[in-house]
Amino acid sequence: MSEYSIEFQHLTKKFGEATILNDVSFGIVKNKITTILGFSGAGKTTLMKHILGLTMPTSGDVIVLDTTINKLGDLQLREFRRNFGMVFQYAALFDFLNSYENVAFPLREFTKMTEEEIKEKVMSLLESVGISKEAAFRLPSELSGGMRKRVGLARGLALDPHIMLYDEPTSGLDPITTHMVYDLMKETHYSNVHKGFTSVIISHDIHATLKYSDYIVFMEAGRVVEHLDVESFKKSENPVIRRFLEL
Ligand SMILES: Nc1ncnc2c1ncn2[C@@H]1O[C@H](COP(=O)(O)OP(=O)(O)OP(=O)(O)O)[C@@H](O)[C@H]1O
Ligand SMILES: [Mg+2]
Repeated sequence: MSEYSIEFQHLTKKFGEATILNDVSFGIVKNKITTILGFSGAGKTTLMKHILGLTMPTSGDVIVLDTTINKLGDLQLREFRRNFGMVFQYAALFDFLNSYENVAFPLREFTKMTEEEIKEKVMSLLESVGISKEAAFRLPSELSGGMRKRVGLARGLALDPHIMLYDEPTSGLDPITTHMVYDLMKETHYSNVHKGFTSVIISHDIHATLKYSDYIVFMEAGRVVEHLDVESFKKSENPVIRRFLEL
């Protein structure tokens, strides 16, 4: 078994003439929180899509939990995606379903749980992210931005994933709520880590990132410029990173 839950080996992705990821090789350490940082357009979301097999490499391999994901067929890939929980930008809840039904959705879709079992699981997930019984039956439009992120997190956790992926989970939130969401991501991480749990966060929020992550991957123009533990990252002499840190 690898010490990495995700490994990129010479991953290159081109869209037409443009090289979006350029010979990316690194591993994301199991049971840790890794944040991918970088300016807009650096290729962070494209990298995350490769982890899910939503985009396939032009060349190179992506190995997730010891499986080469770009070699899986469609059906295997769909099954494999159960290992992941995802929280995307703007939470992306189904706006026609209340909180309860949003969290129940993956359980109805992918398991044979009974209504009673679903109820127990959904209520316990919502409670663990601090959503009250009353808010469980409200529509996303009747929740605050921070609450929507919490419901999104509960939904991402519904299938007991081994890897949580967050793409800009705090965009659009005020600084206090941002820290509350990061606290929750960290709590979630450490309450699941005994089962094997890796968190990968894409962020622009340098201050929250340094406080909550174990490792930082810094990307620029489709390449990984630096991959360090947080303390070493803070001391990096790389001028691009210094510029980012001084923002
Ligand atoms: N399907 C696609 N076809 C063509 N170009 C694409 C496609 N997806 C992404 N790109 C390009 O790849 C580059 C990297 O995009 P990506 O979304 O990965 O950046 P990012 O680091 O996530 O940026 P941001 O911080 O703004 O979210 C951009 O120039 C984008 O226009
Ligand atoms: Mg992005």
